Amino acid sequence: MSDLQLVISTYAGLEEVLAEEVRALGGKDVDVHTRAVSCVGDMGFVYKANFSLRTALRVMIRISDFEVTNGDDIYNGVIATDWSKYMEVDQTLAVRCILNSGLFENNLFPALKAKDAIVDQFRKAHDKRPNVDKENPHLEVILFINKEKCQVLINSSGASLHLRGYRKEVDKAPLSEVLAAGIILLSEWEPHIPLVDFMCGSGTILIEAALIAAKIPPGTFRESFAFERWPGFDAELYKLIREKQMERITDTEVKILGNELNKWVLEKAKANIEAAGVEDMITLHLGDFLDFEHGLKRGVVIINPPYGEKLNVEDLEKLYSEMGTRLKHHYTGFKAWIFTGSPEGAKGNWSAP
Ligand SMILES: C[S@@+](CC[C@H](N)C(=O)[O-])C[C@H]1O[C@@H](n2cnc3c(N)ncnc32)[C@H](O)[C@@H]1O
Repeated sequence: MSDLQLVISTYAGLEEVLAEEVRALGGKDVDVHTRAVSCVGDMGFVYKANFSLRTALRVMIRISDFEVTNGDDIYNGVIATDWSKYMEVDQTLAVRCILNSGLFENNLFPALKAKDAIVDQFRKAHDKRPNVDKENPHLEVILFINKEKCQVLINSSGASLHLRGYRKEVDKAPLSEVLAAGIILLSEWEPHIPLVDFMCGSGTILIEAALIAAKIPPGTFRESFAFERWPGFDAELYKLIREKQMERITDTEVKILGNELNKWVLEKAKANIEAAGVEDMITLHLGDFLDFEHGLKRGVVIINPPYGEKLNVEDLEKLYSEMGTRLKHHYTGFKAWIFTGSPEGAKGNWSAP
């Protein structure tokens, strides 16, 4: 199998964690960029990366690179690729452009030129053209225009990989699964240490921690990836890769505790935990975190407290100050990681006693 140039996207701040994951999975020539990691790997690696990376959003294959000064350059650059390798004429197509250049007023025109090039190539060969489907295309092409350089990529994942498939039930502010996994990996938590999320909402941090502890690949729950519908998809190889990754799953002694104030939200966490099949690894508790007793001497707290929206500044300050006090007095021997979108809250008094 030939080597492919890959670009794997993620959230800002998770690039290094993703690079580490890519290296551990066997990616070569790994480089870190803003919100992305590039590497080299074959098609088998593309299958594996989609199935097993916890902090990736999309795995993209770099198809070509060329210089651009106008729309014709885009058309000519894109039509130079043989697109029948990546889609069939009766499949659907979408083209998206990420523009970081003053050459074009907006990202729509370059995307249109690229779409025209692909459609014209098929029309010439088949007297028929592929349709566009922006929601769920067989092939999503991404143009990344940076100053006068255009990179053409195809998205092998399809919908973002944070949509693992186990989360059927969410509250209003669920944390992205990829972000939850990234925070846990950044925290350097290890499964032999107890983990507590005393504001667990729909349970994302708890579930991602359990998946990490038991080495359950995040792709296990996903219905499909875009590459499965590409011409030349090697179903046999994909099955082998899946099996190999699933063989790594281990039974592990782990203490993961979740607490949530809202009964209705806790029910959602329970349903999600069951959908992920990790109910044996997680203990849930209903109540205010101020009353939650964990009974542990040491551990790690990872929480994503409420912020903005429903809470006014006073309530927010009170909540964050209570959190600080609770952590100081009831979590000695713990390390705490707080992921918040509230700058006011984050200013609170977090120093150790
Ligand atoms: C931003 S959400 C957490 C989202 C969660 N990480 C997820 O993935 O769904 C914050 C949660 O804290 C809960 N909460 C607010 N005040 C609380 C309190 N005093 N004790 C326990 N939980 C509380 C809210 O009900 C809400 O579910």
